[in-house]
Amino acid sequence: MSNIETAMSLENRVALVTGASRGIGLAIARRFCQAGAGVVVCGRSEDTIQSVAQELTAEGFQVKAMVADISNRDDVDALVAFTLDQFSKIDILVNNAGITQDTLLMRMKDDDWDRVIQTNLTGTFYCTRSVIRPMIRQKSGRIINISSIVGTIGNAGQANYSASKAGIIGFTKSVAKEVASRGITANVIAPGFITTDMTAQLSESDQERMLELIPLGRLGAPEDIADATFFLGSSGSGYITGQVIHVNGGMAMNG
Ligand SMILES: NC(=O)c1ccc[n+]([C@@H]2O[C@H](COP(=O)([O-])OP(=O)(O)OC[C@H]3O[C@@H](n4cnc5c(N)ncnc54)[C@H](OP(=O)(O)O)[C@@H]3O)[C@@H](O)[C@H]2O)c1
Repeated sequence: MSNIETAMSLENRVALVTGASRGIGLAIARRFCQAGAGVVVCGRSEDTIQSVAQELTAEGFQVKAMVADISNRDDVDALVAFTLDQFSKIDILVNNAGITQDTLLMRMKDDDWDRVIQTNLTGTFYCTRSVIRPMIRQKSGRIINISSIVGTIGNAGQANYSASKAGIIGFTKSVAKEVASRGITANVIAPGFITTDMTAQLSESDQERMLELIPLGRLGAPEDIADATFFLGSSGSGYITGQVIHVNGGMAMNG
């Protein structure tokens, strides 16, 4: 293999991708598989996650699936144990699973707040904490956390979601500082507006309004996020840590 081929390959790497039964997580899992990685995927729905694993396995990829709710600590510890059992190591963690529960602040119930924070932020904490020991033992690892553009610019009706996604950024930077000396990097990807089930609820007129805010003139695809995530998981990104990579078509240009 040439240096370029080595940099673009994930042969002999093992990745855990949370929330990989559809949308962005599925695109990331597929991209990692295509680069040669062994991949563990998880989601809450047994049928969906198992059928994703069957589909990818039928395409010749090394994929294992497990039902796990990342907002549950025991599920997360079992998921990481399953990954180590199946593949003996874990090189890349992608904290992708996330939910929205949108409403204006004055109508936001405690449960709207708690569920979103518990899944998006606490789930990211559980998964990261659970992989950190094996990664320290290996003296290498890549942690890639999926935040959102609204974690940096905010959005009316998404105070809970924006807080969870902003929390992920501070969390990632702190982890990056803690584990850099152990050969582990931790970075954030902040997607803009990506066409998935999560954004499908928006009306056509809202989507058109959104489009007007995107200099590159199109909504994002899950593959746009998968490509950036792949880069952060590959050997070509070894000197990048504690960063937020915005993948948003220019919708917000952060300093
Ligand atoms: N789409 C966008 O425009 C956009 C923009 C910025 C950031 N993001 C972020 O990107 C990530 C993926 O978004 P998406 O648009 O692909 O969402 P999606 O289409 O709704 O998919 C979410 C995935 O996460 C899984 N999931 C949800 N809660 C889970 C839990 N507690 N435990 C385990 N798995 C769980 C879902 O499977 P089950 O339902 O079966 O559990 C599904 O596989 C999220 O973190 C989201 O906040 C998306």
